[in-house]
Amino acid sequence: MLCLLCNALLLKFVIFPLLVAFGVKFLIKKLRGKIDPTNEIDISGKTVIVTGASDGIGKVTAEEFAVRGARVIMACRNVQKGEKCVEEIRSRTSNGQLIVMHLDLSKMSSVRKFVEEFAKNNADHQGLSILVNNAGLRNPVGVLNITEDGFEEVLGVNHLGHFLLTNLLLPHLEKAGRVDEAQPSRIVTVSSGAHRFGQLNWHDLNFRKTPFVDWKFPPKLYGNSKLANCLFNVELAKKLRLKKMNVTCYALCPGVVNTDSAKQYVDANPPPLPIRIVYRGIKFFMGKPLKEGTETTMYCSLSKYLTHHSGEMYRNCEFWDPSKRPKLSEEDAKLLWEESAKLVKLE
Ligand SMILES: NC(=O)c1ccc[n+]([C@@H]2O[C@H](COP(=O)([O-])OP(=O)(O)OC[C@H]3O[C@@H](n4cnc5c(N)ncnc54)[C@H](OP(=O)(O)O)[C@@H]3O)[C@@H](O)[C@H]2O)c1
Repeated sequence: MLCLLCNALLLKFVIFPLLVAFGVKFLIKKLRGKIDPTNEIDISGKTVIVTGASDGIGKVTAEEFAVRGARVIMACRNVQKGEKCVEEIRSRTSNGQLIVMHLDLSKMSSVRKFVEEFAKNNADHQGLSILVNNAGLRNPVGVLNITEDGFEEVLGVNHLGHFLLTNLLLPHLEKAGRVDEAQPSRIVTVSSGAHRFGQLNWHDLNFRKTPFVDWKFPPKLYGNSKLANCLFNVELAKKLRLKKMNVTCYALCPGVVNTDSAKQYVDANPPPLPIRIVYRGIKFFMGKPLKEGTETTMYCSLSKYLTHHSGEMYRNCEFWDPSKRPKLSEEDAKLLWEESAKLVKLE
């Protein structure tokens, strides 16, 4: 009798909830739609830069490019960590080339030095075919760090560093775009669905004068930086069109990916228990394995169908319909570009 009762309780409180949980997880995966790790564009021997290639999505993105035979520049703030990633990738594939270069996106001097070195070492190559602006940082809730350039750190790394890097690399992207008219070079910026929470503080983007009040969830500075990524992509596409450069650009959300990025920020300043439970739930139900988390980046980099969609956004390897995401204001995009150019002293 006791045994029967135990079995009934086990079924009701353990087996049934587990079946429902995994069923929902499976359903969410199915609803994400088509996954297309495309190989449509041949990049063997072509030069690609991936920022933040020493961990998470960036590391696997570098490997995906190498597997396809590309010459991959892994732009890392920690060169030793980058070299360890190369060893690890080399244990799985001998394809392509992997070159680690130092880049600290929180320092504009480092961005400029990176581009100078790139120009010096790549004069013999046919320019830069793909730039993936992937590196990203989250602040622990309530923490505001200022970089040596006077920038709020999250905006500084996630947006301003990439803004300067992209602008300085344009001549190299243009050079690769000149090789084949049908194959523009690409700039792929890894943003996030968190851009919907961004509210840029236009009069003081770096919170140097405004009192900083962070939200508990989601972190305000991260949302702002990811909104900046999206607005940057909109204005960049306009500028590339105006300059008639054979270079296109895209922004994307990789989805919820099982990397350590959220862990670091949650550990540093743990949010209240209900929010931690929400995080765990989101990760369990929606979390993608790393390789799957790189697929939209690879899609934006290599799908031949995207050529006429410069400035658009993607997720789950599909066009992200503007009616299904917050509207991005073209005026804001222009304003952000002007402010960013002043801040990073872009001539
Ligand atoms: N994971 C997700 O669920 C998710 C969801 C939406 C969007 N994203 C976006 O996806 C991108 C990659 O995220 P992830 O989850 O792979 O993060 P991650 O595992 O924490 O990796 C971040 C990478 O960025 C690098 N980085 C950080 N600060 C840098 C700096 N100052 N200069 C140069 N590189 C720097 C890190 O270098 P170190 O190795 O030295 O730390 C690391 O290589 C980010 O832009 C993130 O916002 C992620």
